Amino acid sequence: MLNKNVIAVTSGKGGVGKSTVAVNLALALANLGKKVALIDLDVYGFSIPKILNITSKPKTINNKIIPVGYENITVMSMGFLTNGNDPIVWRGPMAGKMVNHFFDEVIWGKIDYFIIDMPPGTGDIALDLHNKLPHCQEIIVTTPHSNAVHVAERAGSMAKETKHTILGVIENMSYFTPPFSTEQYYLFGKDGGETLAANLNTELLAKIPIVCSQTNEEPFLLISESETLTNIYQTLANKLVEKLDFVEQV
Ligand SMILES: Nc1ncnc2c1ncn2[C@@H]1O[C@H](COP(=O)(O)OP(=O)(O)O)[C@@H](O)[C@H]1O
Ligand SMILES: [Mg+2]
Repeated sequence: MLNKNVIAVTSGKGGVGKSTVAVNLALALANLGKKVALIDLDVYGFSIPKILNITSKPKTINNKIIPVGYENITVMSMGFLTNGNDPIVWRGPMAGKMVNHFFDEVIWGKIDYFIIDMPPGTGDIALDLHNKLPHCQEIIVTTPHSNAVHVAERAGSMAKETKHTILGVIENMSYFTPPFSTEQYYLFGKDGGETLAANLNTELLAKIPIVCSQTNEEPFLLISESETLTNIYQTLANKLVEKLDFVEQV
């Protein structure tokens, strides 16, 4: 596996949009013709199967797991291995084994980018991933709110301590624009993403606005909600590909 193409989407807190960003970024990269695997490593709080509305389970062949296909990406989640919505009651070491399992016992084939949806915080799973994939790169998601920024900074510090490259910061839920308006309302404060990027000495990759689902159904795929969102994610995907190609050359 090419570690330089493993991108972990991380943050300090839950609820800031890691899973949403991971899913939409994976789809945007796939739209560029890249082969993308999306791995839900939020062992206790898995949400990717629900976001993508995947009900099928992976098949196995010679004790190896074949990941589930969704549009043009391949997906693996703890949620595929549980019974319905039963909670996972493992302790840390068992959950840690899952990290190895998802990489070593799944037949991924040739993949350009592994997008990893991380659990919140700086706990065991994050450490296991750091150990397993020492060259993994990280995207840190925050909302503009100062609390989220403060906590995300710790996730950034952990990335630095474990010598992971931080690709940049994504500010999610940046502002809200009502229908038929161009006004931007900063519901959770302003410029938290800029602050975090500056503090971590990295760049702000994107600002993603708050979107109201057209269907009133949650969760939803932002990339299909509006042209603005599609453009933001495609620009982000292009930027990342450029950045990673550059890393590959040097
Ligand atoms: N830009 C956004 N606009 C509106 N709702 C969002 C946005 N990003 C995420 N959400 C919603 O916020 C909630 C938390 O997002 P999620 O991706 O599950 O966060 P995390 O993985 O960090 O816990 C979900 O209900 C999701 O649909
Ligand atoms: Mg999540």
